Amino acid sequence: MTKLKDIPQIDRPRERFLEKGPDALSKSELLAILLGSGIKGKNVKQLSEQIIRKFSNKFLDITVDDLLEIPGIGKAKSLQIVSALVLVKRFYEELGPKDNIVLSAQDAVSLTSEIRDKKKEYLVCLYLNARNALLKKEIISIGTLDKSLIHPREIFGPAVELRAAGVVLLHNHPSGDVEPSKQDIEVINKILEAGKIMGMNVIDFIIVSEKDLHSVFQSSQKEITYYVSDGVQHSLFDLLETEQQTYTPTIKKIHKVYFYPESRARAGRFQLQNRRYLGNKYKLLGFIEDIVNEKCNGFSVFCDIFAGTGVVAERFNEKNIKVIANDFLSSNFIPLKAFLGTSEIDLEEIEHKINLLNGLKATDNNYFSENFGDTYFTIENARKIGAIREKINELSNNENEKAVLIASLLYAVDKVANTVGHYDAFRKKLDTVQPLRLLVPDFEAENNINNEIYKEDANQLIRKINCDVLYIDPPYNSRQYSDAYHLLENLATWKKPIVHGVAKKMDRSHIKSDYCLQSAVKAFADLIANANCKHILLSYNNTGESKDGRSNARISDEQIVNILKSRGDVDIFERDYKAFTTGKSDTDGHTERVFYCKVTK
Ligand SMILES: C[S@@+](CC[C@H](N)C(=O)[O-])C[C@H]1O[C@@H](n2cnc3c(N)ncnc32)[C@H](O)[C@@H]1O
Repeated sequence: MTKLKDIPQIDRPRERFLEKGPDALSKSELLAILLGSGIKGKNVKQLSEQIIRKFSNKFLDITVDDLLEIPGIGKAKSLQIVSALVLVKRFYEELGPKDNIVLSAQDAVSLTSEIRDKKKEYLVCLYLNARNALLKKEIISIGTLDKSLIHPREIFGPAVELRAAGVVLLHNHPSGDVEPSKQDIEVINKILEAGKIMGMNVIDFIIVSEKDLHSVFQSSQKEITYYVSDGVQHSLFDLLETEQQTYTPTIKKIHKVYFYPESRARAGRFQLQNRRYLGNKYKLLGFIEDIVNEKCNGFSVFCDIFAGTGVVAERFNEKNIKVIANDFLSSNFIPLKAFLGTSEIDLEEIEHKINLLNGLKATDNNYFSENFGDTYFTIENARKIGAIREKINELSNNENEKAVLIASLLYAVDKVANTVGHYDAFRKKLDTVQPLRLLVPDFEAENNINNEIYKEDANQLIRKINCDVLYIDPPYNSRQYSDAYHLLENLATWKKPIVHGVAKKMDRSHIKSDYCLQSAVKAFADLIANANCKHILLSYNNTGESKDGRSNARISDEQIVNILKSRGDVDIFERDYKAFTTGKSDTDGHTERVFYCKVTK
């Protein structure tokens, strides 16, 4: 018998679930996860396959007695399966009327019967989830269908928002002839190409008349008439295989040595880059700046839409340049606002208030010390952090001042945290014992007059802004920034939520990034499709496969190039990450890349 441990890690159900998500697993693999272990003589995969085979489409009605008939299955496993089934059924019953499941062209047509006898041409899209249940029906266009008038963004934009898994398109021919016209075929190809780039399944394109229908899916698949058969979701993509052209961007290797200055903050001051932050681009600023200088002549609006610390935005922050900086975490937005968004501020007043905060005596416990004292911080520092944060709310006269004071606290906290730079864990030995000290931020307020700072999801913001240069530096892998910086986020927002586990994390479900999930490709394609700009620069690194899959890149190079090329020609700039401080080299042997796209479409 093959034992589960003999199956390569990546093929085991739990590992595959974590790596590829539930939709990639067969029914028997899902059941294997539920069962957890096999029985004597059968590993869990074989056992699950046997159960699925035996009950097939009667599975949902299995009883405990049915399962007990299988040799080796006892009461515990039978109850496990039947309880899971009953639980799911209960929830579905409570949801009310049954979903509209679309499994064939006939199902799709019955949901759009109103367009069959229309005198004008309609294009309607059905958005389906992974179970092929209808999420939404939307009219995409009214009038003659023409490739040049249909933009895939109109179809796939809502698909991303709805987190749809696939789409079925329906189009009526008032003439009564349902054969696809030349225009129909051009439109189908355009939609298929865009769907493929965005990772969105285009399941069918159906032409209807009052009495007839033509399904491109049914006419192109020899035997299959159902969209889902043998557990496989079919689509129209096979049609495209022969028509795809390969696109090879130019790759420019850069072998230049860049120097980055050590911090030059004046005494008692701190600068934007004086902070530990995963994936910050401080040491790559020279590289990025060279590309901007070479490619983006005479720009006046620079947008850093995943700004993090804001070092890239700051590099381009000059009097005659408007900088737009955005990050969806408050713990980044607040320092961005302080350093790049504050044009009117009384720095003497700030200095006075920072002295006052540094002088605060905090001997009693508070929310912060109770949760983070003696672990992430010494108890004295933790009490002081909590007390200062409370006092900032009382002390601030306006939003700018408040942002500056909170930024000062966040940077001071980072200096005394007993961590390796992020808050997934604290070091066992509490040896970071220096006292907390707030400093005054060092920035040029006169450069900030026209700047705009946002705390929004990048995909929402992109629809509202215009810029010349769009710099995109999203997370690359499944590691969420809201997990790594939960503590700073907690302190910045100061809503004092309940925290859980050893790492004392608060609920972060509202600040999960799509770019760390399976939806990364869709989110990126949507961002690029909606960008109103002249130049796009994207930092993205494929750091290779890791054992636990956490650091594997979410978007492949091929997907990046295909998505960018939908807006214009693409160049790739590549350099070894050998950054130099004054005299010191800092080599870790990996390659940094920037994808550049000159937007023409
Ligand atoms: C790789 S880091 C950017 C680093 C930055 N360039 C720097 O030099 O500090 C990615 C940033 O994107 C932010 N982020 C992730 N998903 C986002 C989203 N959907 N919208 C806006 N910001 C997001 C994270 O909070 C994180 O700060």
